[in-house]
Amino acid sequence: MWGGRFSRGPSEIMEAINASIDFDRKLATQDIAGSRAHVAMLAATGIIDKADAEAIDAGLKTVAGELESGDFKFSRALEDIHMNVESRLAALIGPVAGRLHTARSRNDQVATDFRLYVRDFLDALDPALAALQRTLATRALEHAGTVMPGFTHLQSAQPVTFGHHLLAYVEMLSRDRGRVADCRARLNENPLGSAALAGTSFPIDRAMTAKALGFDRPTANSLDAVADRDFVIEALSASAIVAMHLSRLAEEIVIWCSAQFAFVRLSDAFSTGSSIMPQKRNPDAAELVRAKTGRIFGALQGLLTVMKGLPLAYSKDMQEDKEQAFDAFEAVALCVAAMDGMIGDLEPDARRMKEAAGAGFATATDLADWLVRTCAMPFREAHHVTGAIVAIASGRGCALEELTLADMQGVSSAITEDVFDVLGVERSVASRTSFGGTAPENVRAQAEQWLERLR
Ligand code: ARG
Repeated sequence: MWGGRFSRGPSEIMEAINASIDFDRKLATQDIAGSRAHVAMLAATGIIDKADAEAIDAGLKTVAGELESGDFKFSRALEDIHMNVESRLAALIGPVAGRLHTARSRNDQVATDFRLYVRDFLDALDPALAALQRTLATRALEHAGTVMPGFTHLQSAQPVTFGHHLLAYVEMLSRDRGRVADCRARLNENPLGSAALAGTSFPIDRAMTAKALGFDRPTANSLDAVADRDFVIEALSASAIVAMHLSRLAEEIVIWCSAQFAFVRLSDAFSTGSSIMPQKRNPDAAELVRAKTGRIFGALQGLLTVMKGLPLAYSKDMQEDKEQAFDAFEAVALCVAAMDGMIGDLEPDARRMKEAAGAGFATATDLADWLVRTCAMPFREAHHVTGAIVAIASGRGCALEELTLADMQGVSSAITEDVFDVLGVERSVASRTSFGGTAPENVRAQAEQWLERLR
């Protein structure tokens, strides 16, 4: 393809380090789409003959068919997907194939292909995230009133509902989808026609190829268009944040499944056994969702490192933009699907969760709030009084509601029988009616709103 000024071929090692076909074959569909849009434009602008363009387009369709059926023979000597396709085209239709590369370079070609690929990825990620939100909101509605301990520092803090906890992730995923949409909107410009770096002297129509490929407009600067990969970095960054969110939920599932917590049971479909310990049910899928975050963060860091310090415009370094990104995109898609599966059929143990919600004096804040409200005590004093009451219960190894009124009046004479109303976990969650709070009626309304929005 470029041998004109060379008298011998590359060494085997050169070929090994230079070839990208082993991974950039994933861009085959996008490469053909880009070439078809390009050749149609070359004909429409009179840069090449209509008859030549038709022969090229028919040949490209044949190549596409071979790629799809698996009959296509990839060659490492041909370096990358662009030259593999072009060479096969030449074998099929003869020297006229050489006209396809008029007013184009592999630099704008690969930038276009990869944008199309990342766009396809984002367009598949968004509905997958929406499906996971739907599953979470469905389970949240079902468990709007299921009481569980809420934690800070992984210490029992205040009772919340399981539905409220699940809806927290619906909110996170909603922001994740916002990032996906932002990234897609910025990405959607057409680099094709930037040629190697400076544009071209041929009278091309970049708006035409933009339209054919579903881009909003052509990129405005040819150097920028062939030299930046920020669109991949943004997609990886959005993916990394998704992975970080999923990893937190995965970690919670691992904790909840332990015998010590026993808050939830994963279905058989999402558990594995141990080859030596027959009693084990392991949350492998959750652990792997947690772990795959590593390769997704790694891909982001990897590409940032490849790109930093590269002078404009294209450098071959940029061929290292693809492999890890492909891997990360596949990993994040799999993680979203696995999480959807786990959440869809995990079974919470409501009795066990409620019992745990009552342990650890989780309604101590309710007692302090009651003192403020009913006895007009300043919050700091109420905090102190409550602390003293908790110390008595702790010393006796009993729950707050198991103390007698006399026990409590020994700390503050202002306390009356009514205090027992707020010491139970159900009353505690029901009272948290502030906007965004955990009261079952709030959670039910929020879950219903989400399901409506996600319909
Ligand atoms: N395989 C190359 C890549 O992915 C295509 C662009 C090659 N351009 C060049 N001037 N060598 O970056």
